Amino acid sequence: MTTIIYAHRGASKQAPENTMPAFDLAYQQGADGIETDVQLTKDNIPVLIHDEKLQRTTNGKGYIKDKTYQELKQLDAGSWKNPFYQGTTIPTLDDLLKWNQDKHLALNIELKNNVFAYQGIERVVYNKLADYQMLEKSVISSFNHRSIQHISEWQQSIDYSLLSGKKAKDLISYGTHIQAAGIHIRYRLLSGPLIKLAQANQLYVAVYTVNMPATIKRAIRLGCHAIFTDVPQVAKQARDSL
Ligand code: G3P
Ligand code: MG
Repeated sequence: MTTIIYAHRGASKQAPENTMPAFDLAYQQGADGIETDVQLTKDNIPVLIHDEKLQRTTNGKGYIKDKTYQELKQLDAGSWKNPFYQGTTIPTLDDLLKWNQDKHLALNIELKNNVFAYQGIERVVYNKLADYQMLEKSVISSFNHRSIQHISEWQQSIDYSLLSGKKAKDLISYGTHIQAAGIHIRYRLLSGPLIKLAQANQLYVAVYTVNMPATIKRAIRLGCHAIFTDVPQVAKQARDSL
């Protein structure tokens, strides 16, 4: 088993997170996959951005949910990171899927619906992945476990996983119950016994966010199915060195 290296929000240490330049860089650096965060605009367009508010990563203000896609498209999502990225815009899920058509990277689409529910986001994302024939190479995750349970009730043709920063053991019984593919946990929760317990329950374990060679190597040695990293090049070197 080779541990999958997902570029967390793209190659987000160097390039502005969740933007096309960050995805491009991740691809160039040899990431196996892209992890990205999805929210819905006021007019129901799935866009890739981490925070519910625009302030931190764009020159806009207010909530994603209150803006139309046309409004969001005007914003600069690159300058905050580095003036070099001025003019970079917030991508849509379609932008990522189109870009990936000739690259075939694995995708972890994280539904950012634990603050606002974004009713219907599960089906919007599922339908997009189906449109681009990406169901088999994608996994949907969320900190909103009700949303993941919702997917489990109507959908068996895509992998879905529970995300959590705490109580990893409870996650295993719940994950088994809803037939999740795996659990995506904060790195500090990782242990050998946890991996064994998860595997005994047919669940994989993936960890976020690992950027140091030593922690990346430990995650790989312990048998993590995947890691999420801001520095895919570092992760690839660490994996190659084992
Ligand atoms: O999907 C793993 C990781 O991205 C979850 O946390 O806050 O970085 O989206 P966050
Ligand atoms: Mg995320």
